[in-house]
Amino acid sequence: MNLFDAILTRRTIKEFTDQPVPDDLLHQALDAGRWAQNHRMTEPWRFLILGPQSRQAIAAINGDAVLEKARADAGMLAKMRTDAEAKILSKPRIVAVTCCLCGNKEVEQEDYAAVSCAVQNIQLAAWGLGLGMQWTTSGFTTWPDTYALLGVDPAQEMIAGLLYFGFPAAVPDPKPRKSLAEVTRTLP
Ligand SMILES: Cc1cc2nc3c(=O)[nH]c(=O)nc-3n(C[C@H](O)[C@H](O)[C@H](O)COP(=O)(O)O)c2cc1C
Repeated sequence: MNLFDAILTRRTIKEFTDQPVPDDLLHQALDAGRWAQNHRMTEPWRFLILGPQSRQAIAAINGDAVLEKARADAGMLAKMRTDAEAKILSKPRIVAVTCCLCGNKEVEQEDYAAVSCAVQNIQLAAWGLGLGMQWTTSGFTTWPDTYALLGVDPAQEMIAGLLYFGFPAAVPDPKPRKSLAEVTRTLP
């Protein structure tokens, strides 16, 4: 796939087939993240590949998050929890991405930008390998329970989000974008 095709056809994928994602494919996509630009060569990204137990635990945290949002009647709540857990477990592979914190606000801002570049590299590489990916920053991804589950010390690293990977079951239409003219000003 040429570079422009990859950039223009890349979509956020939320629905995946049941086909398992082989480790080597996932590793190839994550490896592209390591090559992202980063100021001062801080290489601030860390990737946590969730195994079966951690997937169950993160699904349960999402269940709690949905209940917290809703507070409906008991029967409804039980179904909402099951649905919320099933949603997470329907993602064939889950990788948490964190950004190392150094205590210097300016460098931390650059480092978060670098982690975002890494995620874009990973999503494009995955796309080129036939894999879909969604980056989520949904509220529960930064709950204290999630830091504890993933063994991430909030004084050392911030969770930049979860990446869901799988073979696409559906590829959404592109969302409309502002034209280049709308987002560009040419200065004298
Ligand atoms: C930092 C960041 C966080 C995101 N978090 C979510 C999320 O929590 N839930 C979600 O459905 N999509 C999330 N997305 C994906 C965007 O919704 C998606 O990129 C946007 O709708 C454009 O669609 P496209 O990626 O297919 O072009 C996130 C994207 C970024 C960059």
